[in-house]
Amino acid sequence: MPIGIDALEIATPGLYLPMTDLALARDVDPAKFHVGLGQDEMAVAPATVDAVTLGARAAAAVLERTEQADRDALGLIVLGTESGVDASKAMAVMVHGLLAEEYSLPDAVRAFDLREACYGGTAGLLTAVDYVAAHPGRTALVIASDLARYGLRTGGEPTQGAGAVAVLVREDPRLLAIDPATTAVTTDVYDFWRPEGEDVPRVDGKLSNECYMETFTRAWEAHVAATGLDLADYAALCFHLPYTKMGRKALARVLTPEQAAERGLTRIHERYEESIAYSRRIGNCYTASLWLGVASLLDAGSVAAGDRLALFSYGSGAVGELITAAVAEGFEKRRDPAAQRARLDARTALTVEEYEQVLTESLAPAGEGTSGTAFVDDGPYSLTGVDGGIRRYRGPRG
Ligand code: CAA
Repeated sequence: MPIGIDALEIATPGLYLPMTDLALARDVDPAKFHVGLGQDEMAVAPATVDAVTLGARAAAAVLERTEQADRDALGLIVLGTESGVDASKAMAVMVHGLLAEEYSLPDAVRAFDLREACYGGTAGLLTAVDYVAAHPGRTALVIASDLARYGLRTGGEPTQGAGAVAVLVREDPRLLAIDPATTAVTTDVYDFWRPEGEDVPRVDGKLSNECYMETFTRAWEAHVAATGLDLADYAALCFHLPYTKMGRKALARVLTPEQAAERGLTRIHERYEESIAYSRRIGNCYTASLWLGVASLLDAGSVAAGDRLALFSYGSGAVGELITAAVAEGFEKRRDPAAQRARLDARTALTVEEYEQVLTESLAPAGEGTSGTAFVDDGPYSLTGVDGGIRRYRGPRG
């Protein structure tokens, strides 16, 4: 029986910064951000929004789409992140605590976090697929949630963002069946890392780009060698998207636009453009980025049931994995693209001065409370304060 994703939902903060404005403020040609990096807007999280908030919002949206029988069958909640808020307590436990009553979730669940940079969400998904295979009839909730932050006036500044993706994994999935055989590549390298106690990562930008492309090429070649499948067997390839030009550069390592035209594979590049629509407007969300790309592709309406997809996940440090999947019959009934786009359109644009204020507040050393913040997002599951190290969140009903 196929196992995979039955529902997939996205959460992003209600604030964003237009990339043209950031470019002009930094005395950079806006074309560098829009074309050179492939980013148009960048989601900005105020101090009231953290990775727990975003994860809970995405998970709540998934549970809204999930029948009570599948909620009752929940046996695992796994959360991938590199924006941890507590060095000991799992954010998956906090999300369970925020959602359990509203959605009648069982207490008899395993809940834990996984960490390996941007790969953590994929690690969670594959753990969930294995769990459901080993426990027929059970379901699993996987959450990938991150605030991608490099700091003001840093090289990584235009590649920031924030967001979460949550998915429900079960047998007979109605969105995407995940193939059990995958191709993983691990290499011990310092291309992007964040020592304990530091707020923002250290990154060797050029090295990270090279490691990403090298890891993709190795995974792809190993996949082709092991399976005999090639690009012609796939309707589309989706990539981890630290910025949307990154995936395009990796794709060109195995298929340039010229080669695509010669081989009758222009659809691969066309579908790539469809897969980056949400990321162009949200920016990097580390663990969630690949899955944002998958949602964007499914919502664009070009793929059809039965189409096969290849998905490349990359976490600096570095772990890459190539996953293959099949689009399920009736998948379009499991997504609402118009509502998704409307949520992005409804966000509030910040000025550069406001963005700098928000980022400075959020990056302040962990203190008690969030009072004094100028910009709040008081939607469900927003952070209302930190009290004795205990994080307090607003519930779904205020
Ligand atoms: N018009 C059009 N394009 C322009 C331009 C203009 N006026 N000016 C510059 N460009 C192009 C450049 O030619 C370049 O294109 P190519 O990549 O095709 O060569 C592109 O814009 C970027 O220019 P630079 O290389 O000069 O940019 P930069 O020095 O500012 O660094 C960066 C870019 C390395 C991505 C930096 O933003 C960074 O360090 N970001 C964080 C790290 C990161 O995202 N790494 C990605 C791989 S690691 C990963 O995937 C994990 C993760 O999520 C972090």
